[in-house]
Amino acid sequence: MRYITFALAKGRLARKAMAMLEEIGITCEEMKDEKTRKLIFVNEELGLKFFLAKASDVPTYVEYGAADVGIVGRDTILEEGRKLYEVYDLGIGKCKMCICGPESARELLQNHELIRVASKYPHIAKDYFYNVKHQTVEIIKLNGSVELAPIVGLSEVIVDIVETGATLRENGLQVLEEICDLSARIVVNQVSMKMEKTRITDIISKLRQKADALEV
Ligand code: PRP
Repeated sequence: MRYITFALAKGRLARKAMAMLEEIGITCEEMKDEKTRKLIFVNEELGLKFFLAKASDVPTYVEYGAADVGIVGRDTILEEGRKLYEVYDLGIGKCKMCICGPESARELLQNHELIRVASKYPHIAKDYFYNVKHQTVEIIKLNGSVELAPIVGLSEVIVDIVETGATLRENGLQVLEEICDLSARIVVNQVSMKMEKTRITDIISKLRQKADALEV
């Protein structure tokens, strides 16, 4: 039996996703050892391999077939724009992609002014401003703590993830517009989806059955 390889966005998401897989009988004991420096984990019995990667690299591993299946946030899928199939919403890591800033920036958006937009997600920001809002803006790529940008005068607004809203509240910023809903998704390599259709769809339908049973 050929191995099916999973790439998981490391961190909280991977831990939650592994817990969901465990509920449908897919386990990987050696992955639970938090001290391990191993990069790839194997379940010989089920013919599965797992590795953890930086979230933004997960779609790359899946597009090139180095992983058959990826588990990663929709924010990363949209930003990376890789060729892959998005097959299942795990319903974990729910949050929203939003335009945020001080209340005073609201009218700059309404008047379609040429403003600066800071974001870890320049492609999502560009797509939304140019193709949805039809507003010309200057996009500035940042790598973290994006909420700083409007506070220190780098940009008028930001495009970022809002989960609890605590970071915005504690820094005097607001959600000015919602762009889209986000959550963790299962993505599949396009060739793997054909070659391993039965095994992959079996995993997805078990996850779906489990989720449906919980909702009832
Ligand atoms: C994310 C996001 C926001 C924050 C939102 O940042 O970019 O800053 O979480 O969460 P909240 O609405 O619950 O406050 P992350 O913690 O990943 O760190 P980073 O900003 O350094 O990327």
